[in-house]
Amino acid sequence: MKKLIEIKHLDIGMFLEAEVVREEREGEEQRFVVPLNAIQAGSSTKRARLTGNMHERIERDGGLMVSSPAYIDRFRELGYTTVSIDTDKGKDLPETIKPLTDPNRPAPPPGRLVHFDEEIERATEARAQTTDTLKTALEDVASGRGVDATALAGASEVITESILRNMDAMVSLTRIKAHDAYTAVHCMNVCTLVVAMANGQKLNRSILNMITTASLLHDVGKTRVPLEILNKPGRFEPHELQEMRKHASYSGDIMREEGGFPEEAIAIATQHHEMMNGSGYPLGLKGDQIHPYARMTAVADVYDALTAKRVYKPGMPMYQALLRIIKNRGTEFDDDTVEGFIKVLGLYPVGSLVEMNTKEQAIVVEPNPLDSRKPKVALLTMPNQKPRAVPLVASLIKRSEAEGREITKVLDPENFDVDVEEIMKEVKERGEATERRRR
Ligand SMILES: [Fe+2]
Repeated sequence: MKKLIEIKHLDIGMFLEAEVVREEREGEEQRFVVPLNAIQAGSSTKRARLTGNMHERIERDGGLMVSSPAYIDRFRELGYTTVSIDTDKGKDLPETIKPLTDPNRPAPPPGRLVHFDEEIERATEARAQTTDTLKTALEDVASGRGVDATALAGASEVITESILRNMDAMVSLTRIKAHDAYTAVHCMNVCTLVVAMANGQKLNRSILNMITTASLLHDVGKTRVPLEILNKPGRFEPHELQEMRKHASYSGDIMREEGGFPEEAIAIATQHHEMMNGSGYPLGLKGDQIHPYARMTAVADVYDALTAKRVYKPGMPMYQALLRIIKNRGTEFDDDTVEGFIKVLGLYPVGSLVEMNTKEQAIVVEPNPLDSRKPKVALLTMPNQKPRAVPLVASLIKRSEAEGREITKVLDPENFDVDVEEIMKEVKERGEATERRRR
């Protein structure tokens, strides 16, 4: 049985799933061992080089038996945090330790290493931690202290890892908005969406980490905007708008002053309000002049700002915000970036209130990476519009359960007196209770 485990649980006698990668360097073929389904942390993209005939055994067996502590140390040194073992070929985990994904379930969907419900708790924790770290970082900058780069790097790492295990979990949490600490929560949301988009491009880990930190800090320049402007409800006067718009350049300035940020990271922050057609700010850059990762930040930023609930405006329903972005693809937003964004969010983002062809109302509770039109939903009403005593969870991709149900309309929860978060919580708790009964 194959199990995804944390590297700290890798032990002598376990069989590590791995493959051999060959590379030509200066005319000589070199061979490296690369663990399967593994996640590598940090900026390390180094691999363990193979000598002798070890590659033959790995290729024949689909991996290698961990026979000495040196192996474990080596993989840890290379920054692997998650590896896959085969318990039919070697020792199993001790009973007290759970693998990252339940081996008795069908494999997670393509591109996901663990299931959505297996990651959601870790993602929630990671999000809370990072938002706190970010709040502190913003306060530090505002009061003239330096940013704690180590804390920030640690937080970036935790987010990236969760997204690499199952991006849908962390992305689904971006629906959560907060009245207080708006900037920190907004930065957290934008960062999640940008990293999830970048993850689709199969970038190496050091670039992914750079994008995470830069997108987390994209609005750090707001700490230099006078508070009476920053917190002003409603419309800005022209001179206030001018001041507010300076925050993008300030973000770049702060990162330069702090030091240690590469030019690419500074570009991501400085250019996050630039639009493809030149209508953005601060420089009115156009097309290729805008860094590709800044184009991602621009899309994520607008989406999160539109859907945010503020004192002076209600949040726009997610689907509507997505449509607004789609409408402006090719003009304000980069075409390919919008394409990637739809893939990340799914057509009906988690937390959307929808109506089915059966006239039942439902809330999207889990995306479906195989077909974004058919997510998992919690049915709130019956076809006659009467509320159900408890929400009924139905996976629209499983025909037997779905009974031909399809989503036909997206509704605005504000108009229907539906507390989305309360229902999501109830569905989760009921799910856990069912899970306990099954065991
Ligand atoms: Fe901004």
